[in-house]
Amino acid sequence: MKNEFDLSGRVAVVTGASSGLGADAAIAYARYGADVALLARRVDKLGKVASEIEAMGRQALPLACDVIDEAQIKAAVEQVIKHFGKIDILLNNAGIAIRGTVEQLTVEDWDRAMNTNLRGMFLMAKYVVPHMRERKYGRIVNMASVNAVIADKNEMLARHVYNASKAGVRGLTLGMAASYGEDNITVNSIGPGLFESEMTQNTLFANEQFMRFYNAINPMSRPGKRGELNGTIIYFSSDASSYVTGQHIIVDGGTAIV
Ligand SMILES: NC(=O)c1ccc[n+]([C@@H]2O[C@H](COP(=O)([O-])OP(=O)(O)OC[C@H]3O[C@@H](n4cnc5c(N)ncnc54)[C@H](OP(=O)(O)O)[C@@H]3O)[C@@H](O)[C@H]2O)c1
Repeated sequence: MKNEFDLSGRVAVVTGASSGLGADAAIAYARYGADVALLARRVDKLGKVASEIEAMGRQALPLACDVIDEAQIKAAVEQVIKHFGKIDILLNNAGIAIRGTVEQLTVEDWDRAMNTNLRGMFLMAKYVVPHMRERKYGRIVNMASVNAVIADKNEMLARHVYNASKAGVRGLTLGMAASYGEDNITVNSIGPGLFESEMTQNTLFANEQFMRFYNAINPMSRPGKRGELNGTIIYFSSDASSYVTGQHIIVDGGTAIV
């Protein structure tokens, strides 16, 4: 019987694969049968993820790539296609969180966050989409955040450029989904709530006051556990979602509904 979630024979590209949610997703792709190209700036960390994937009998291609740099993105996409012959899945996951209100943020903060979180996704798509269109197949998954749709008044948590960049990811996803449906390319986004990662472990998770607040407003009274995002990533990346495009799934234990 066909398993719609099976990714055997597929090639996935994951940006921000050196830690956190991206590393977990890359390993999940391999577990579902895909070969994976791993992109990030820290190649030593990519090497560790690659070893885990190879130990599972799948191929991994670690590539140094700063998503702020168009030339590096173009070169990385070319290398993946040369190495694997194709790209079926793109998980646009690389991102940074910079705290601050519009009054506190510098222009440099704003540009760095927007260039990483939003312009980086545009550039990855710019070089991957023509290849997917040619092959009439593609699954693009863009990592947004629950912070695309919720905010709160606490100064310590206010992250205006993060909110803006993640809402931008949502808009980019809609536009791309509308343009490329006829090419059999689906484009969806995911809005994680709070998950432990390099981004959050020394900031939000280390802040008892914040954790009490998060657990109090969260219907499940806890942050996400490692791996709890993978089901949604695999769904959007596989044939299980072949007629689903332009959609956004929030994986946050219900924070955004209250
Ligand atoms: N954790 C959460 O609670 C949460 C919630 C909502 C959304 N998210 C989103 O999930 C995604 C992954 O975050 P995470 O929580 O897993 O944090 P993380 O552990 O800090 O991972 C971020 C990843 O992005 C990469 N990255 C950052 N800047 C980059 C650049 N200029 N070029 C290439 N890669 C870059 C990092 O790799 P290098 O440093 O090696 O380049 C790293 O692999 C982000 O988009 C984040 O906004 C996370």
